[in-house]
Amino acid sequence: MVKLKELHGFAVQEGIKEDPRSEEQIEKELDRRKEEYEKLEGVKKELYDEGRLENPFDDSKVIYGGDQEVEKIALGIDMEVQELLLIDRLNEKGKDIDGVITHHPEGRAMANLYNVMGIQVDVLSEGGIPVSQAEALVKPRADEVKKSIHPANHPRVPRTAEILDIPLMSLHTVTDNHAYSYIKEHLSEEEPDTLENLIETMLEIPEYRWSLRYGMEPQIHSGKDENRVGEIGVFGFTGGTDLGDEVIEKMVNSGIDTLVAMHATKDQIEKAEEENINIITAGHMPSDSLGINLLLDKVKERFDLEFLAMSGFKRVKRE
Ligand SMILES: [Fe+2]
Ligand SMILES: [Fe+2]
Repeated sequence: MVKLKELHGFAVQEGIKEDPRSEEQIEKELDRRKEEYEKLEGVKKELYDEGRLENPFDDSKVIYGGDQEVEKIALGIDMEVQELLLIDRLNEKGKDIDGVITHHPEGRAMANLYNVMGIQVDVLSEGGIPVSQAEALVKPRADEVKKSIHPANHPRVPRTAEILDIPLMSLHTVTDNHAYSYIKEHLSEEEPDTLENLIETMLEIPEYRWSLRYGMEPQIHSGKDENRVGEIGVFGFTGGTDLGDEVIEKMVNSGIDTLVAMHATKDQIEKAEEENINIITAGHMPSDSLGINLLLDKVKERFDLEFLAMSGFKRVKRE
């Protein structure tokens, strides 16, 4: 048994360890928030989310019931109203699920998703894109995302959790950081030479093998089997959501030949074909599952908890 907020705090610390930013950079960001908070007045100060002063991941939040003890947790990629109802139904049948973790954010964690996109400046620069170019790409895109998610029904899922009294949190960038650093290391160790070989290398990872069952396995979305891999950029695994198609142009200018992404947009694929850039789409559910599994292995070492996998999440244990 552990309080949901304590489990959340542990996950955040593990997310920081896997973050492409340095710990100093993250500290600086938290200091900046503290200064910003001090300057606030009235209702804006009163309703400020003080969790932001400790937790740098605005998309990974306790949504409801942080003080409640949890032991048997349902965990999935999208845990929305239908999954919460399913859990209530399962509990009627005696399953005793007392907590829920959703990977994709809900509530305030979704409304503030754009705030984690700054991470992608560091992801792109680790991949070889100059920081000036990375900033020019990420900042306007984050602004676009902010505006596009603003009108959504953000209270819907939090209120459902509250009515059903099911403790709920989201862990998004916290686990995506794990997937990112794992894939980056895996590919630099394996050094695949062709795109076909890169796919085989990805299929050594159990989550991607599982994804074959559903036709959502790693695929070439631009380029041919026999194309040489060249310089790899692992982008779009962490940092909120996709960048626009301009990333392809920046890759051309920075000497990156193959984009390995969790998912790629139609515009990115079209642009890549035009510019002769290779795209490997790793697959969304297996990549999200990989990140969650890496975190869960650490959670299991620390806490005695049981997990029920659902909603696109496949549990795989590592030693
Ligand atoms: Fe994800
Ligand atoms: Fe995702």
